[in-house]
Amino acid sequence: MHETVLLVGGGGREHAIARALADSDAELYGCAGTRNPGIAALAAGFETLDTTTPQAVVAYAEGVDATLAVVGPEAPLQAGVADALAESGVFPFGPKADAARIETDKAYQRRFMREHDIPGCPEFATFDVMERACEHIDDSDGDLVVKPAGLTGGKGVRVIGEQLTPAEAKEYLRESKYDRVVLEERLVGEEFTVQAFVADGDVRTTPAVQDHKRAYEGDEGPNTGGMGSYSAATRELPFMTEADYDAAVSIIEETVDALDDYTGVLYGQFMLTADGPTVVEFNARFGDPEAMNTLPVLDTDFLDVLTAARDGHSLPELAFDERATVCKYAVPAGYPENPDAGAKVGIDSESAGDALLFYASVDERDDGVYTTTSRAFAVVGLAESIEEAEQIAADALDAADTDGLRVREDIGTADLVESRIGHMAELRGHEG
Ligand code: AMP
Ligand code: GLY
Repeated sequence: MHETVLLVGGGGREHAIARALADSDAELYGCAGTRNPGIAALAAGFETLDTTTPQAVVAYAEGVDATLAVVGPEAPLQAGVADALAESGVFPFGPKADAARIETDKAYQRRFMREHDIPGCPEFATFDVMERACEHIDDSDGDLVVKPAGLTGGKGVRVIGEQLTPAEAKEYLRESKYDRVVLEERLVGEEFTVQAFVADGDVRTTPAVQDHKRAYEGDEGPNTGGMGSYSAATRELPFMTEADYDAAVSIIEETVDALDDYTGVLYGQFMLTADGPTVVEFNARFGDPEAMNTLPVLDTDFLDVLTAARDGHSLPELAFDERATVCKYAVPAGYPENPDAGAKVGIDSESAGDALLFYASVDERDDGVYTTTSRAFAVVGLAESIEEAEQIAADALDAADTDGLRVREDIGTADLVESRIGHMAELRGHEG
């Protein structure tokens, strides 16, 4: 059957979703707060609207006779866009607001794990009164992480001992005036992401990806939405064993068993510690940038996953092109703290050469595409090895005019991957 798919969201992640659907038997429509020229080029129509207003999304879905919808970002999920689409008869691939709390309420997320005895939950405590949280910091040995319970675009977490002192953490709690925070054990290890397609209790997992949240080379500077990411030609990453990957998959499967009727992507972010994977967080959607690593190597038709989820069929087993990927984001100078908007984006899919180009937050004007204050675009290299994939991504950026933009050169380089391997070997107490 011919499908009409509405894609909600306009970032790099959604451009990757649009690309994954472009060769399917589907007519695509996009909507987002800003126009993504990459999605618009692949779609039959693109509407600028507020994606956190469920009625606006439903009106557009009905207007284009959508038979399916994919909700990319977390904010519309929290706003109840999946609920509203389902009510109007358009199947949403993405959880309803209540189920999305696994991402949108970190206090709930931790309590859920504890209540259901899901392995890999760090020690934690939740606080509604910030002075109580400050006392908890005073009473602890200081190895704590401060997490606002609500959504912060990946920028609200502070790691004591890495990013700030206990005294600064208390100041942060008093000044930011969050309604609720989680204080939890600081995990030490290497982070990785595993994303799973979920429907009717079926879980289909994708290869592990490592994102880089810190703004600058060498994992320095403030947290960002993610500066880039890599994946290997195998399911696991070079610093992990297959058993580590399988342990992460088991945690996701146990979580899906405990969740009531979850549909969409469940994203597990893990810290691989000396004792195995521990959950940093769950997200209720694809990762951004991780979707740009995963979807280009997915050989299974993504539309088949969506229709199986809608029609109550078992989800197809996933096949992957066994290639490594490296994704690098170009962000405005000064991002994330003092970003400068308005630089001309000097790249297009032709000049990107062998790399894939995904647009994120850009402003398309008559005379070209300009940056906003968020991540502008990403390039993705695909190859036999991570090192070759990195070279492809780096070549694309070299060929582009990146005045006024910044990238993390180190993502996916052999040196960086070696340092991850060395770090894990050291934590596990043996030579790499
Ligand atoms: P989040 O917004 O939950 O993705 O957290 C942002 C970043 O904070 C993560 O990518 C980790 O690097 C770090 N982080 C979060 N929780 C912990 C933890 N319990 N231990 C160490 N680092 C953490
Ligand atoms: N890559 C981090 C996120 O999507 O939340």
